[in-house]
Amino acid sequence: MPNNVNTEVAWNYHQATTHSYTSVRTNPHFLDFSNQPLPFKIYPALEPSRMPTEVRQTEIAALSAIAASIPAASKAAPNLEAIAQLLYLSAGITRQRKYSGGEIYFRAAACTGALYEVELYLVCGDLDDLQAGLYHFAPAEFGLRRLRAGDYRHVLVEASGGEPAIAHAPLTIVCTCTYWRNAWKYQARTYRHFGWDNGTLLANLLAVATALGLPASIVCGFVDATVNRLLDIDIQREVAFSLVALGHDSGLSAHTAPPSQTAPRGLADISPLGLETVPLSRDEIDYPLMREMHAASSLDSAEEVAAWRAGTPLGRTEMTDSPPPAAPVVRLQPLSDAEMPRDPIEQVILRRGSSRQFARSPISLPQLSTMLDRANRGVPADFLNPLGSQLNHLYLVVHAVEGLDPGAYVFHRDRGVLECLKQGDFRDQAGYLGLEQPLAADAGVDIFFLADLRPILQRFGNRGYRAVQLEAGILGGKIYLAAYAQRLGATGLTFYDDDVIRFFSPHAEGKSAIFLVAVGHSVKRLA
Ligand SMILES: Cc1cc2nc3c(=O)[nH]c(=O)nc-3n(C[C@H](O)[C@H](O)[C@H](O)COP(=O)(O)O)c2cc1C
Repeated sequence: MPNNVNTEVAWNYHQATTHSYTSVRTNPHFLDFSNQPLPFKIYPALEPSRMPTEVRQTEIAALSAIAASIPAASKAAPNLEAIAQLLYLSAGITRQRKYSGGEIYFRAAACTGALYEVELYLVCGDLDDLQAGLYHFAPAEFGLRRLRAGDYRHVLVEASGGEPAIAHAPLTIVCTCTYWRNAWKYQARTYRHFGWDNGTLLANLLAVATALGLPASIVCGFVDATVNRLLDIDIQREVAFSLVALGHDSGLSAHTAPPSQTAPRGLADISPLGLETVPLSRDEIDYPLMREMHAASSLDSAEEVAAWRAGTPLGRTEMTDSPPPAAPVVRLQPLSDAEMPRDPIEQVILRRGSSRQFARSPISLPQLSTMLDRANRGVPADFLNPLGSQLNHLYLVVHAVEGLDPGAYVFHRDRGVLECLKQGDFRDQAGYLGLEQPLAADAGVDIFFLADLRPILQRFGNRGYRAVQLEAGILGGKIYLAAYAQRLGATGLTFYDDDVIRFFSPHAEGKSAIFLVAVGHSVKRLA
């Protein structure tokens, strides 16, 4: 029996990494700054080739770019300049700040603890200004290190069970996650962060791809061992988490894309690279629970992948809809195209930075509506079929939104309405739910992502757990961008899992807390 269907593993992992008032207080963990992991993966023997650093303005409004995607069959291939743009605006270093212990290199997308455990690899055929190969993105040098020469795309086609977007893509980006870099701070809960942090990065990547006219498709179904072998990563430490197919060339397909002369024909021919990498820390602590979770959510053969993807779509009602509203509703009032701020996606990404303090001043209902509307228009991913389905449900604690009574709400995406679950000033409770952080109490609104894991795990097996976390990260990343596009602030936050469900119950009974993003007016702090 494939591991993936034994969903007890995901349930156990979820339960074991639940934050509660007691678990947080009884955890003896402390941050050992003398053993802090390096924020970059470094191959010391390979020189990176630098990429163009100029950020070209696409003039595409961020609020348009996050809401749309380029149709899958539109012929397009990225050149090196576009690749540089995609990498810089999703995982590049956009700010740096000195602190007593050293320097923090902040990246384009929000990431838990600014620990940046997601690495990016490129698998491409011959492109303008970039030869076919497997490359690792080196953010510190803003360059690419070539790990393999030749066209290896057929390996991904095989690993993804012939997924059409991958089969037609001139370029696929493989996102991997490194356990220790994040577990240094967050211990075994890091596996959830893989989805969150990979997701915020993908929100940027998808928006930039759209602005550049490139179709992009997220692929979660692949044979893990094959992809990991292609990258030659040490799977005790780093694992492939998601693939993003970029561009479309109708001339390629699973059957017609022949391996180039320099690339091997079969998987067995993928030779180990044996490349040295710089250790991240003096020593690393292993959290086996995460590796168990990863192994149990791995897919072992192309047939298993194809069957995983072909399974019955979760019914729209099960996935997206709560029961019809039973209480008064407020209709969203999103800004029209003519009214909406048109700040280009590049500017908005460079402006973004998680709010460290919120003023308690209100945002407007049109601002909130625009965020919810634009961020929830569908994510092109192989586990979201049909396009527009969604695994997570949005629940809100409204503190200060002009035109909306303070209270708890559930968002009915299909109807474009917010149903009021209870009215009242819940700033104190929300501050508590957000792991007792004032940010959740001071925000204009806290947006919680909740999911019913039962049908998700039943349909997708343990891999559904990866998918639901990743989707939440993508949607949360879009909300970040939609907030900054309107000159508001936002921050991801962690939370007390079961208390969140209790707060939104009875409506939320049976669901699990997946993600939280708070939005409001940032207080600008003097440097
Ligand atoms: C999913 C997620 C959860 C986060 N949780 C917290 C949190 O609990 N408390 C906090 O102060 N910041 C939190 N952050 C913000 C990160 O600390 C921040 O993204 C990181 O320091 C990088 O800075 P930047 O977002 O300004 O680029 C979170 C961010 C994400 C993406």
